[in-house]
Amino acid sequence: MSARDTELPVELLVLPDPEAAAAAVAALLAGAAQAREHIALAGGSTPRRAYELAAAQQPDWGGAHVWLSDERCVPPEDERSNLRLVRESLLAALEVQPTVHPVAVELGPEQAAAAYSAELTGAELGLALLGLGPDGHTASLFPGSPALDEHERLAVATAPGLAPWVERVTLTLSALAAARHVVFLAVGDEKAEAAYHAFSCPPSAATPASLVRSARGRSTAVLDRAAAAGLPKR
Ligand code: 6PG
Repeated sequence: MSARDTELPVELLVLPDPEAAAAAVAALLAGAAQAREHIALAGGSTPRRAYELAAAQQPDWGGAHVWLSDERCVPPEDERSNLRLVRESLLAALEVQPTVHPVAVELGPEQAAAAYSAELTGAELGLALLGLGPDGHTASLFPGSPALDEHERLAVATAPGLAPWVERVTLTLSALAAARHVVFLAVGDEKAEAAYHAFSCPPSAATPASLVRSARGRSTAVLDRAAAAGLPKR
């Protein structure tokens, strides 16, 4: 079931509000870009502000590589595309572009996942940024998904567990565990219950984010006070 049975620590970084949480993640992204790292970026809506701030803080992403932690299988110009989110909020504002590794969604989910897994093989992720769904999913690893039992491939195709109801390609637990720094960003009271299960309960397939930790580096949950409301004070 899980890629690990032992408890791997996750440091909690609780900020007063969403803007402060975005700024904290932006600083981590800017540092990874300056270090010319391979960086996997989250989709959804929360990270948009962090990407805008990261581009303002560090406009030179030359030598860095940008991957997607997951992608919706829609055309790149579709508003549901995670690549479109990254293009609009980060890449468009940069003075020097990174090497971008889009998911080849035109191949269809299974072939796109196989191609992404092959392309990622050998790349060492310095930072993997992830969001958190209200159901405890992260990337496109949804509760109870067969993808949670995949320990060989670095990317797989998955069915959606929440809207948008389109097929996905997601990095697997193995790919994410190999990142030197796993960073979660979650804000708002609608994420509080998921954050409690993800960051202060034992690992469980019912909360995929609880299964995602760096196996060889650091894991950090960047939260605002609302999302951290259910967490014990450390
Ligand atoms: C996706 C994301 C997904 C997202 C969470 C949180 O493709 O949907 O990768 O894992 O991070 O669903 O989404 P919000 O930031 O929109 O709340």
